[in-house]
Amino acid sequence: MPFAKWFVGGRLNASYICLDWQIQNGKGDKVAYYWEGEDYVRRVVTYRDLYREVNRLAHALREMGLKRGDRIAIYLPMVPELPIAMLAAARLGVIFTAVFSGFSAKALADRIIDAQAKVLITADGSLRRGKVVQLKSIADEALRSCPNVKKVIVFKRLDGNVNLVEGRDVWWHDVLPKNDVYVEPERMESNEILYLLYTSGTTGKPKAVAHSNGGYMVFVHSTQKWVFDVKESDVYYCTADIGWVTGHSYIVFGPLSHGITSVMYEGALDYPEPDRWWEIVERYGVTIFYTAPTAIRALMRYGEEWPNKHDLSSLRLLGTVGEPINPEAWRWYYRVIGKERCMIVDTWWQTETGGILISPAPNLAQFPLKPGSATFPLPGIDPEVVDEEGNPLPPGNKGFLVIKKPWPGMLLTLFGDDERYKEVYWSRFKGVYYTADSAIKDEEGYYWLLGRSDEVIKVAGHRLGTREVEDAFITHPAVAEAAVVGKPDPVKGEVIAAFVVLKKGQEAGESIIEQLRKHVRTELGPIATPEEIHVVNMLPKTRSGKIMRRLIKAVALGSTVGDISTLEDGASVEEIQRAMEEFRMSMGIRGP
Ligand code: WTA
Repeated sequence: MPFAKWFVGGRLNASYICLDWQIQNGKGDKVAYYWEGEDYVRRVVTYRDLYREVNRLAHALREMGLKRGDRIAIYLPMVPELPIAMLAAARLGVIFTAVFSGFSAKALADRIIDAQAKVLITADGSLRRGKVVQLKSIADEALRSCPNVKKVIVFKRLDGNVNLVEGRDVWWHDVLPKNDVYVEPERMESNEILYLLYTSGTTGKPKAVAHSNGGYMVFVHSTQKWVFDVKESDVYYCTADIGWVTGHSYIVFGPLSHGITSVMYEGALDYPEPDRWWEIVERYGVTIFYTAPTAIRALMRYGEEWPNKHDLSSLRLLGTVGEPINPEAWRWYYRVIGKERCMIVDTWWQTETGGILISPAPNLAQFPLKPGSATFPLPGIDPEVVDEEGNPLPPGNKGFLVIKKPWPGMLLTLFGDDERYKEVYWSRFKGVYYTADSAIKDEEGYYWLLGRSDEVIKVAGHRLGTREVEDAFITHPAVAEAAVVGKPDPVKGEVIAAFVVLKKGQEAGESIIEQLRKHVRTELGPIATPEEIHVVNMLPKTRSGKIMRRLIKAVALGSTVGDISTLEDGASVEEIQRAMEEFRMSMGIRGP
């Protein structure tokens, strides 16, 4: 540690495992994905179909001059071409970075530039709540600042009515060879990079998490089996978007490496009605269903009548991921969706961990569940809950979760920045991996994950950094300073609450607030739309100039700050109390 290596010298290719190997095992005609567009367009993609398309695209990419170690970016909606693009890159040993299709032009450009991607794969558009998301025009805007991208491959999902830049842009259906081709898979050394996935942290700049070929594939394959207990006959539906890690590991590499059948759906969960997912479960006979607590809470609000309209008897296993699940949502999921017959796996993990670390594992062992606890670590995972100094805490105490031993799915590094990797994950506590999550281990050894202890917020399960959002505010000409905190929300888990100081002479009022909301949305994407924006006269800061976010959060929530002696470095208790008082007054809040 911190640069652990797995299966050194071992060779494999992820696309070979997911495709060639499955076909050799007689699964050519088996369905890999049942795909459904939001407009009810349907496609059935078998393992052989996937294999053909992946080879054809890999051929086209190779013709463009891409070779092992090069990078490409993928900005696609939830269509089968997204896993096809990932697997085609993997086949060539080309490192891909998939960018969530809800991200803005700027977010896309930042990632393309950081990864030095030479090719972008995108689509004309996609459907979301009945509206067209103009992916190609967002991509065009991003590419204005990415001269390194020489070729753009555009998949036609809609009517294809978009502008193609001469010499740069080509249609997917034109650039792929007309006939079947075979592209020899590269023999990747286990510790070479399979993909980069950007994720939010404490600074304004997203981190490029690098995952390996060998360790990663072994880990997602194993955890897919242990946690989801997959069987030949399963129809598995993970509702995540492949643009996030859950989709990478548990829609693409995990399920395909087992040769099982998955469902992929393009659109919104409540479009055209709040029973869209249950309709899908019924139509395809879904047996394993994996989603996020925020979605469960949203569906709970619509009422039981929506799931009750459908036959959900095919379901046998339910899962959750992305944020802590409150016991009320857990019980609803168990009773209304699982009809008190289905086991629930609450799976704790992170972009960096590659796969699930703490979760029930019905394939390995049976034990009583506790709603809200992710239960126990999986085999080979050695967690500990520690105090500020890194000392193990006795059961029942809240502390920081660390992992004491490396595991195969662990990130290799942050791409191009080994120092930052060491600093972010391995410097807070000596010799152990720092998760930045708070947790409690109870008397019986069950783990309760309590959310982040750093500046990361989870908005509807999507990971965002407060600094990224603050930086987006500051790029607006009217803003002098901004502070962002996560505010608890009954459906989304957390929402963004922002406190901004305007430049001198700027009028505070509804119109500026609306402008700022739009501005942040275009800078980062719809998921980062602030829920609350407060214009204030000052932000409480330490002498060294650090914004006291915990204090702001306490004021915003109307709660107490807790132990203020440990609040921020260098600030005295009196200073903090004074700052808090001033900040309250500046927000128009009086009294304690
Ligand atoms: C949170 C998502 C409680 C946690 C796979 C972690 C959870 C962050 C759970 C990683 C869970 C994920 N219970 N909290 N079952 N699963 N988290 O990188 O705070 O998007 O650090 O990866 O989500 O988010 P990321």
